[in-house]
Amino acid sequence: MNTICLYYFSPTGGTKRAAEIFCKEISANVETNDLGLRVSKTKEPREELTVIASPVFGGRIPELVTEKLKELDGSGKKAVTLAVYGSRAYEDALLELNRTAAEQGFQIEASAALIAQHSMAPEVGQGRPDEKDQEEIRKFARKVLEKIEGKIENPVKVPGNYPYKEAMHMPVTPVTLPSCSQCGKCAAICPAGAISMEDKAVTTNTEKCMLCMACTAVCPENARILPPPLKEKMGQMMEKLKDVRKENEFFL
Ligand SMILES: Cc1cc2nc3c(=O)[nH]c(=O)nc-3n(C[C@H](O)[C@H](O)[C@H](O)COP(=O)(O)O)c2cc1C
Repeated sequence: MNTICLYYFSPTGGTKRAAEIFCKEISANVETNDLGLRVSKTKEPREELTVIASPVFGGRIPELVTEKLKELDGSGKKAVTLAVYGSRAYEDALLELNRTAAEQGFQIEASAALIAQHSMAPEVGQGRPDEKDQEEIRKFARKVLEKIEGKIENPVKVPGNYPYKEAMHMPVTPVTLPSCSQCGKCAAICPAGAISMEDKAVTTNTEKCMLCMACTAVCPENARILPPPLKEKMGQMMEKLKDVRKENEFFL
């Protein structure tokens, strides 16, 4: 296949990693579009196949992804959707991703719910997608190619409910430790534009912050962290998932 067009949102890199494993098996030429960049207009898909990859937040697709997808014209274009989650559950996220893409005119050829390390509790699914995941994702990619080339005809049906579960709203943001060097990388990367550097201090707008963890992942001093009480609560909630291997799911 010629170039394929990848749209992804990946605040801490797991979604991008999983999506690229898939895309590279299909084509050596992948045009990537980072939906987390604060650009005024996202580039339209021009290629034969569009891949849309989103992390799962609270069993839903982050609002930012929905908003950015609504800018795209997918008429007559084939698409593959990937919802990437942290071993808990993806609930309505994949259905929401598919419905949103279909509303833009995309024809969904295949979908997957893939596991990556949990961005708020990295001890869950640590290192995933690992080698086994990668092999499964590549195998799926080869099947998708066959389907696109017309050998398999089957409409895609994914789990989930509509109306979707209520979106997650946590009135909390990451905090900055005194070891912060005020380099401004967190403010620059924040996809929501929620962080500003004021009087040499990092200020976070609670209304805008979606707790995506991009700022914690980019901080070179590890000075941007989840508030310790939340970190502890997450650790307790996720404890039972630490030793569970959740499997990827594929829909063709
Ligand atoms: C705010 C937030 C909410 C999340 N909600 C879920 C969830 O409902 N289910 C789940 O299994 N993982 C959940 N996760 C984990 C992410 O879906 C997972 O780590 C994903 O790989 C993150 O993508 P990224 O590495 O591209 O940032 C959540 C993570 C964050 C930051």
